[in-house]
Amino acid sequence: MIWNVEEFTRAAGVTVERLAAYVEESQRGLPPVIARRPPRELAERLGLTRWIREGGMTPEGYADFLAGYLAEGTRLHHPASLGHQVASPDFPAALADFVHGAANNPMAIYEMGASAATVEFEVLRWMLDKTGYGEAGGGVLTHGGSLANLTALLAARAAAAPRAWTDGVPGDLAVLAPESAHYSLTRAAAILGLGERAVMPLDTDPLGRIEVARLPEALERVRRAGRRPMALVANACSTGTGLYDDLRGIGEFCAAHGVWFHVDGAHGASALLSAGHRRLLDGIGLADSMIWDAHKMLRTSSLAAAVLTRRESDLDAAFRQRASYLFYGDQGFDLIGRTVECSKAELGLKVFLNLAWRGERGLGDYVARQYAAAHRLWELGRERPGFAFPYEPESNIVCFRYGTGDQVEIRERLMDDGAFHLTSAEIGGVRHLRATVMAPATDDKTLEALLDRIAGTS
Ligand SMILES: Cc1ncc(COP(=O)(O)O)c(C=O)c1O
Repeated sequence: MIWNVEEFTRAAGVTVERLAAYVEESQRGLPPVIARRPPRELAERLGLTRWIREGGMTPEGYADFLAGYLAEGTRLHHPASLGHQVASPDFPAALADFVHGAANNPMAIYEMGASAATVEFEVLRWMLDKTGYGEAGGGVLTHGGSLANLTALLAARAAAAPRAWTDGVPGDLAVLAPESAHYSLTRAAAILGLGERAVMPLDTDPLGRIEVARLPEALERVRRAGRRPMALVANACSTGTGLYDDLRGIGEFCAAHGVWFHVDGAHGASALLSAGHRRLLDGIGLADSMIWDAHKMLRTSSLAAAVLTRRESDLDAAFRQRASYLFYGDQGFDLIGRTVECSKAELGLKVFLNLAWRGERGLGDYVARQYAAAHRLWELGRERPGFAFPYEPESNIVCFRYGTGDQVEIRERLMDDGAFHLTSAEIGGVRHLRATVMAPATDDKTLEALLDRIAGTS
C-alpha cells in the first residue's frame, strides 16, 4: 500500500500538536509524573484489542488514541521525574526519530544510508576527540549501553585470546570489576562464554569506589586463582550512587601491568562537555575502551550508545563474520564489522541534531545544570531532620534515606498518586532512596516539595 501523503501530513500534524501539549503540561508539572494502571485495564482503555482486530485508524481516531497513550505513560519532561537514567529527550533528537521512522536507512552497510552513516562517522569523530582518543581511535554507535559493554569486552577478549572466536574461549580469563559495576558487565562475561564466575570483584570503599591502592592485591588474587586478567572495569559514574572511580590512578595501574582498561561511562561520560566537571573523567585517555550513552545525558531517546576504543584496530578485531551477501572484499566505509547488529538504526542523527541545535556548549551546560540540581538536593536535604545522605553527589544521581523505616514503602507512597518518580538502590547492603535529576524542569521548588512529601509535612 503506497502512502496517502495527505493523510500522513494530517496524522503528523496531530502528532506534533499532541506531543507539544504533552511536553508543555509535563514541563509545568501539571499532570501526575507516572501512571501505573494494570495492563489489562489499560489495554481496554486504549482499545488495543479492537484496533488490532479491526484496524481502520484515521487521523481522528489516532488523535484520541495518542492522547490516551501519552496520558497513561511516564513523563520524562516533568520536574518530579527523578527516577531512572533515561533522557528527558530534547526535540531535535525527537525529530531524528521521526525522520528515521519514515526514511528507515539502517546504515551499518554504507550503501543502505550514506548520509546516516556519514553523520554517525562525524559524531564518532567528535566523541573520539572529546575522550582524547583522537584520530587513532575507533568507534561505533549501538543500541544501548548493555550492547556497548558487550562489544567493548568482545574487543578485550579478542586482544587477550585472539583465537577465541574460532576455537572457543579459554577457561582462564577473568574480568576484574567492582560490585558496583552495572549488571550488563556480568551479563556480558556470561554471554561471552567466560561465565559469571570469571568476574572477580575489586576492593572498594564503602561507597563502591575502586580502591586504587589495593589493585595489586586484586591482580595477585586473579593470578593465584590461575586466571589471566582480560579486562579491568571502572565506573564513570556508577549506576547506583553516581560516583566516579579514580580513572587516572586505575588507568596508570593497568598500563603498568598490561591489563585492558575498560571505562563504563554510559551515564557519566557526558561530563566531558562541562568545563566544571571534566576533571571527573581525568585519565579517560588511558582507557583501552569506553562506552558513552547518548540516551542518558546527551538527551536523545533510547537507544544510542557509543563504544570507543583507543586503537581502532582493537574494535575491528572484536567480530569476524562471513555472509556472502554482505561481506566481500574491502567495502571501505561499512560499520557492520564492528557491531552485534546487522540492521542498525540511524542512531547518529539524533546525537547530531541535538549537537547541531544546542551546540557542544549547550549540552555541557545541561550536564552542569543537572549535576548542580542533585547537589542542591543534597544541600537542602541534609539540613532537615530525619534525612541522611551517605555522600556528597558528584553527578546528577544522589542517594539518601529518610528515617529508619522501609525506604521502598516511601518510594511507593510517592508514586501512588504520581507525585514523584524516584528509584532506590542498595549501598553496603542498605536500601536508599535514589534520585536522578534528568529533567531540565526540576528546580529548587521541586526539590523542597519532594523533601516535604517524604517527611510528611505536605
Ligand atoms: C553505568 C551503566 N552502564 C550500562 C548501562 C546499560 O545501559 P542500557 O540501559 O542503555 O543498556 C547503564 C544503564 O543504566 C548504566 O548506568
